[in-house]
Amino acid sequence: MTAPKDPLVVFLPSGKRGRFAPGTPVLTAARQLGVDLDSVCGGRGICSRCQITPAFGDFPKHGIHVGTEALSGWNAVEERYKSKRGLIDGRRLGCQAQITGDVVIDVPPESQVHRQIVRKAASDRVMKMDPVTRLYVVEVEEPDMHEPTGDFERLARALQAQWGVAGLTAGLPVLARLQPALRKGGWQVSVAVYDDGHGAPVLLDLWPGLHDGGLYGVAVDLGSTTIAAHLCDLASGAVLASGGIMNPQIRFGEDLMSRVSYGMMNPGGDREMTAVVRTALNDLLADLAGQAGIETRLIFEMVLVCNPVMHHLALGIDPLELGQAPFALATSDALRLSTRDLGLTNTGASARLYVLPCIAGHVGADAAAVALAEAPDRSDDLVLVVDVGTNAEILLGNREQVLACSSPTGPAFEGAQISAGQRAAPGAIERVEIDPVTRIPRFRVIGSDLWSDDPAFDAATAASGITGICGSGIIEAVAEMRMAGLLDASGLIGSAEAAGSDRLVPDGRTHSYVLHDARATGGPLISVTQGDIRAIQLAKSALYAGARLLMDEMGVDHVERVVLAGAFGAHISPKHAMVLGMIPDCLLDKVQSAGNAAGTGARMALHSRAARDEIEATVRRITKVETAIAPKFQEHFVNANALPHATDPFAELRRIVTLPDVGFGAGGGGGEGDGGRRRRRRRG
Ligand code: FES
Repeated sequence: MTAPKDPLVVFLPSGKRGRFAPGTPVLTAARQLGVDLDSVCGGRGICSRCQITPAFGDFPKHGIHVGTEALSGWNAVEERYKSKRGLIDGRRLGCQAQITGDVVIDVPPESQVHRQIVRKAASDRVMKMDPVTRLYVVEVEEPDMHEPTGDFERLARALQAQWGVAGLTAGLPVLARLQPALRKGGWQVSVAVYDDGHGAPVLLDLWPGLHDGGLYGVAVDLGSTTIAAHLCDLASGAVLASGGIMNPQIRFGEDLMSRVSYGMMNPGGDREMTAVVRTALNDLLADLAGQAGIETRLIFEMVLVCNPVMHHLALGIDPLELGQAPFALATSDALRLSTRDLGLTNTGASARLYVLPCIAGHVGADAAAVALAEAPDRSDDLVLVVDVGTNAEILLGNREQVLACSSPTGPAFEGAQISAGQRAAPGAIERVEIDPVTRIPRFRVIGSDLWSDDPAFDAATAASGITGICGSGIIEAVAEMRMAGLLDASGLIGSAEAAGSDRLVPDGRTHSYVLHDARATGGPLISVTQGDIRAIQLAKSALYAGARLLMDEMGVDHVERVVLAGAFGAHISPKHAMVLGMIPDCLLDKVQSAGNAAGTGARMALHSRAARDEIEATVRRITKVETAIAPKFQEHFVNANALPHATDPFAELRRIVTLPDVGFGAGGGGGEGDGGRRRRRRRG
């Protein structure tokens, strides 16, 4: 019972307040008020998760004065903790400090279970922790001959009584370790419990006494070309290690459809591809754990996002049906599995695997992760989210409706199929400018901030060299060529005479533009060829046509905001992308970059039970649009072949950029006056 004259406690930042009898521990007051103050040991003074900072002085806003005697004195438990592990000055343990007078208590972010993690992205969404796997310290009753119950049943009962977690279940690997742990810990154990709200809580592991070695999880973005992963602390959300490796399935085919075909043509081919990707995932887990300096058995959760073909292959399902209409997925719902189901051994023996739901046969869990990270369904303005990779995932929507499709851009945007193309790595040209008068280029390479016309450039790039051109570099090069009048709207490169640059050299029946020629010193010749332009045209036409198709579906002809996601999206210059007509015309300052949104979505799902529920509900509401069978797609694709576009005016773009009205089709130097091979590319 509290009395009116009992001390008033105000918790910040929540502002929750209440009166408590003198002697009430701060942790108890926090619990009663529903303040988010962490505890793993349940107030035993051993976990230190309950740290708080009392504030002293006058607080007119709260109508109280806090004197130094507002909390009980520093006690032996706190002193022991501070001397052994350290405690920031001014901090107290909330389970030890008792309320003795009016007090204002600040709960630092590290002591909040549901802390917010601000992430760098175009949208200002914050990631909110809502951990699925949590650690609890439990005191278990000792066995009694007169009341025979199993140790596990007594543990489950204690967990319910002490933490309100009911219905605990356990698999055999952890049951086998239960009895020694209980006895070694003197009937006090730390338990890692997975509880995602779908089914009974699962005991993942246990340790005698207090486990302070942490619980970890890995968020994986399994792409057709690369596999990127983050190892995170499941309590704090901190990323402790990140890594990326090539997807070894590349040797079975560069793009998705060639991998599906490999499976069709070679009996057991799908199993081969499954085996190599699982080995790669397992190696990546070990690598991340090594980087973070933790044992792999402390990895208790894994979240996987990927496109549908990768999804099936990782799960050991033949993706055959995804290669043909109606592109049926074996399963589209989110999956809750064990990492061992995929043969992944570099995790805890009971570690859980969550696979985000797929949106449709060609719009996978990676697109779902992008939807989770960028939340088009919460946008007031009409936003187009484009995740540019080997396949582009495209989402269009606002609060009212969200549409999604996938478009087969192919790997040109990643530097593949480009004559001097390479992956983004030191030495790759990533930025290009062409002087509109002299038509001389200058460029920057990854690894140096200097432009190539800087006197210090050669020295700065001596180590990396100038090795090729990456995706963002080729986009800038082609757009700059268009702006400098070296390239016409149909995509033809002019001759030296027609376009007025001795950098344009004959190349078979076509012409190439020389960006960098170091052959005299044994270096490379880096040019943009007519074939490169065609590859970019095909890729950007597929991207634009997909976006346009969604706009048709929604009955709009412009979008208010564009978000470029994907590791590559982070490096695309919006202006150059617009000159190429990769994305629909819109105000340039409304084109934002979101970095690796699929990876961010994977991390959000790793850290939040609510995020998993949210994306599962959102995916059900997203309308899927299938590009492969849409008759309009081909028409949009053909119109999008021009730079920037054959019929869309791109009025916003033309307000800031002048595109020379040149034409090289009639003897002007181009060899493919038909505007290029307008073939329809299959997905890849
Ligand atoms: S609750 Fe664990 S130390 Fe206070």
